[in-house]
Amino acid sequence: MVADYKVADTSLAKSGRVAIEWAERMMPVLLEIRSRFLKERPLEGIRIGACLHVTKETAVLMRTLMAGGADVALAGSNPLSTQDDVAAALVEDGVRVFAWRKETLEEYWWSVDRVISYHPDISMDDGGDLTTRIHENGAGSNVIGGTEETTTGLTRLRSMERKGMLRYPIIAVNDAETKWDFDNVYGTGQSTIDGLVRATNTLLAGKKVVVAGYGHCGRGIANRARGMGARVIVTEVDPIRALKALMDGFEVLPMSEACRAGDIFITATGNIDVIRGEHIAKMKDLVILANSGHFNVEINVNDLEEMSTSKKQIRDCVEEYTLSDGRRIYLLAQGRLVNLVCAEGHPAEVMDMSFSNQALSVEYLIKYAGELKPLIYRVPKDVDMKVAELKLKSIGVTIDKLNERQTEYMKSYTSGT
Ligand code: NAI
Repeated sequence: MVADYKVADTSLAKSGRVAIEWAERMMPVLLEIRSRFLKERPLEGIRIGACLHVTKETAVLMRTLMAGGADVALAGSNPLSTQDDVAAALVEDGVRVFAWRKETLEEYWWSVDRVISYHPDISMDDGGDLTTRIHENGAGSNVIGGTEETTTGLTRLRSMERKGMLRYPIIAVNDAETKWDFDNVYGTGQSTIDGLVRATNTLLAGKKVVVAGYGHCGRGIANRARGMGARVIVTEVDPIRALKALMDGFEVLPMSEACRAGDIFITATGNIDVIRGEHIAKMKDLVILANSGHFNVEINVNDLEEMSTSKKQIRDCVEEYTLSDGRRIYLLAQGRLVNLVCAEGHPAEVMDMSFSNQALSVEYLIKYAGELKPLIYRVPKDVDMKVAELKLKSIGVTIDKLNERQTEYMKSYTSGT
């Protein structure tokens, strides 16, 4: 069945299918869920509206939701992150895909609106654009619930929750332990370095890499950069996170000082204006700027534009800005997610866990439809544990079990010295 769609080129479907099947080989947990979904059809007749990065791993999730009986419409969650061949293959699979690489902002929102026009029962979001749009245009009356994939999306949705604006329950997939302790840390860590290297082929060994933010993503990036031989400086605003970075062995500086020292800067804060004009003014010649936070607001590109006398695209993904004193600054991916724009996003093995949480959270929302309030919920603990158990099993790792004596001991207060 060919669904309603708008993608770059449907003739790319064959290469997209090869890519999706490659990812499937590395997503055994999601495939196990898929085979149960095929038998039980827990999502029969459910319309899912999704706004996710259109990657091969996302395609594996879409196929799993369809195996459960869902009807799926999908928009990309970033104008530059869509893998066009994957989008084409998904059209062949019957997904209503509205996504192509290098959408304008207008086209991006048109695509999100097309997804909403199918009146989804479930919204599946990465960044909060779909969910906030549903709320803004009053289209959410029939929505049973939603899921949110990333930290920034949850920051936005929690603000709506605080103001009493949420109209349906949201499961915070990002906050599952099997998501943010793996996807954000190891996934973003590896794929950010991958994006940086694919875009520039720069040598990391010996370079001073400044990582802004030592949260889940920043910790992953800082450690992977160190593993490649970089001397890593961390900037933070949270004293506990800053201490962690320090005791993990990193130098910690305010950006006002780090900006003079760094050769490469990577932001991963979920915040705005982390690198701005006053910092760019002090940077060395030939500095590379990259962002791995969800939105393109962490590096103030307007400031960079205003301070520059010329700008030219010198490689795919790399723009050279020349400042009035002749210094050159290289901006990757126009300040958008470097790992998704300059590389392929997270490895499939780690998305296996994130997207298993997505699939099981959708099943949970349907099972408990009507019982949940319009609030943000954690992924149920048993779902989180199940994902970890299945992942370990798929890797062939077994672990110990508590015996009766140990279980009793952990529950009691009586035995001491
Ligand atoms: P987190 O909340 O665990 O960490 C963010 C850290 O940044 C915090 O420690 C915070 O104190 C720090 N921070 C905030 N403002 C700062 C500033 N001005 N200067 C320095 N540090 C500052 O969040 P997490 O999970 O690490 O996510 C960070 C961003 O990355 C979010 O936008 C999230 O949506 C995005 N993300 C991107 C992924 C990708 O594929 N590139 C994957 C997962 C998340």
